[in-house]
Amino acid sequence: MEVQEAGDQLSSSQLGGLVSIPMVLRAAIELNVFNIIADAGSDAYLSAAEITSKIPTTDPNSAAYTLERILRFLGANSILSISQKPLGNNGENAVRHEWTYGLTKMSRCLVSISTGGSTATSPASVMIRFSCQRELLESLLRIKDAVLEPGSAPFKKAYGVNFYEYLEKKPIFRQLFDELMEVGEKLVFDDVFKVYGGFEDVRELIDVGGGIGTTSAKIISLNPHVRGLNFDLPQVIADAPTLPGVKHAAGDMFESIPNAQTILLKRILHNWDDERCKRLLRNCWEALPADGKVIVVEMAIPQELENNLETMNVLKEDLYMMLLMAGGKERTLAEFDHLAKAVGFTKMKVFPMPHGSVHVIELYK
Ligand SMILES: C[S@@+](CC[C@H](N)C(=O)[O-])C[C@H]1O[C@@H](n2cnc3c(N)ncnc32)[C@H](O)[C@@H]1O
Repeated sequence: MEVQEAGDQLSSSQLGGLVSIPMVLRAAIELNVFNIIADAGSDAYLSAAEITSKIPTTDPNSAAYTLERILRFLGANSILSISQKPLGNNGENAVRHEWTYGLTKMSRCLVSISTGGSTATSPASVMIRFSCQRELLESLLRIKDAVLEPGSAPFKKAYGVNFYEYLEKKPIFRQLFDELMEVGEKLVFDDVFKVYGGFEDVRELIDVGGGIGTTSAKIISLNPHVRGLNFDLPQVIADAPTLPGVKHAAGDMFESIPNAQTILLKRILHNWDDERCKRLLRNCWEALPADGKVIVVEMAIPQELENNLETMNVLKEDLYMMLLMAGGKERTLAEFDHLAKAVGFTKMKVFPMPHGSVHVIELYK
């Protein structure tokens, strides 16, 4: 069967190179390339030699040439913008030039953020660091196992334990994961509790799987009438800081959940298969009074799969769930409804949020 057309060899070779892009980006972040260009001015273009002069290297001349090859590659992939700067006449009527490199919309996201005298790594840089981590790469190498042996997670195949058990043993990886959660929160979930107004009738809220309590603290700062309890695994709660208005409690949400008028499940259900989700939702049902509610905050896969950034983002999350957690997945609203009804909730109210396919879903008994 002849399916190839003229020029397809180039496309094939481009496909083969896609895997290099995040790794090269990671190197450029570690070399501080994007910050060096940004420090030279918002529309600055710098040559490889100018950038190299700000990088501690044992041999600046050779390093400039190596860096040039990295910069050219990023330019060819629209991550940097390339310009030609004339250097004058070399005496033989040929005008010499050098390439210079500026930031694009994409690479501006990789510049560190300075506020009030302190500088923080950009959310995009944290995401690239995390996705280029050996643990993620080992899982990506095993994607096909998820199809050959459904129900297995590539991560568990590589490391023998599930993702959260692994985090428990690797504090440095846990720290990076916490950073990732924090930037994901800022990028996609930051507005949720400002837009969603469902806390007016909430007296007490338990944030199940609430990590170190950041979300509870935020909700309470916006709704001071709410009493907050942050609930997570003992090893997570052990590191949780004291936060105004937030109490911490340790436990296993699949065993039982303390009674509360309102339960928050934010970015929790997508980690688990349907059976685990039902067990968790059943525990929520039992912990709630008759007029209580569960507030689920999750991305939802749209009914129509369009070629836009929102859809790409939720499908990327879905792929990561498939890699990291056996049975973990992003769901459609119909799938959330099905889970909730299966354990006895009778009503589901949906509030679409402004960014990233995020929805707030209220479940009533
Ligand atoms: C994806 S993180 C979400 C954290 C937080 N809700 C947020 O939106 O940033 C999932 C959380 O579930 C917690 N978790 C995992 N298994 C748990 C269990 N069996 N009981 C309680 N918490 C658990 C993890 O420690 C982690 O903090």
